[in-house]
Amino acid sequence: MAASAELTVRPLRLEDDRGDFRCGEPELDRFFEHYAGQSRFKLRLTVTYVAVLDDRILGFATVTGATLDRTAMPTPKLRKRLPAYPVPVLRLARLGVDQRAQGHGVGSALTRHVLELALTQRDAIGGLGVVVDAKPASVAFYAKLGFVDLDVPREGQLVGDPRPMFLALEVLAKAVGR
Ligand SMILES: CC(C)(COP(=O)(O)OP(=O)(O)OC[C@H]1O[C@@H](n2cnc3c(N)ncnc32)[C@H](O)[C@@H]1OP(=O)(O)O)[C@@H](O)C(=O)NCCC(=O)NCCS
Repeated sequence: MAASAELTVRPLRLEDDRGDFRCGEPELDRFFEHYAGQSRFKLRLTVTYVAVLDDRILGFATVTGATLDRTAMPTPKLRKRLPAYPVPVLRLARLGVDQRAQGHGVGSALTRHVLELALTQRDAIGGLGVVVDAKPASVAFYAKLGFVDLDVPREGQLVGDPRPMFLALEVLAKAVGR
């Protein structure tokens, strides 16, 4: 698959065919095929966006609202200036790119879309950043996009456990001039 300007990111539709999607993490594939629609259209808990090229779904990102305690913030500066109650953030709950399309910028395009959503959330209702529980194999992917480790207790963490990461919108907003 060549990187293409025609890749579009749009909300999931009920009629989208999700049966043939394999990102290499069966639990993510299962969520996408069986639960992403229900969660978006019936329960209204999450919204899933899909990256589409020539009518084929190459990847998906699922987002939802969340809150974060200031004690988890990655820098003392942020911890100090925030209130003592949980602050609003956007959670990138799931992200997957079909194995046949990995390594061609689809994951980055979906994550950029999520960052745009977080800026819209910030401007409309308030929001500080994006959080993600990164699978160990994807930590480097998120780090490249500017995510850093959240300051959460690590005791009891096992190899293979997800790593909580965060991207502050103030960093991003400066970079994109918003
Ligand atoms: C992680 C994932 C979403 C990345 O999507 P992708 O479309 O392959 O990533 P991109 O092509 O946009 O890669 C962007 C950059 O990150 C790098 N990258 C991608 N996956 C990486 C990984 N696992 N480790 C290190 N770097 C990675 C790419 O080399 C690229 O670097 P470059 O900009 O210097 O060329 C995809 O591999 C995937 O679906 N993996 C399985 C499911 C998963 O782990 N999801 C994350 C759950 S938290």
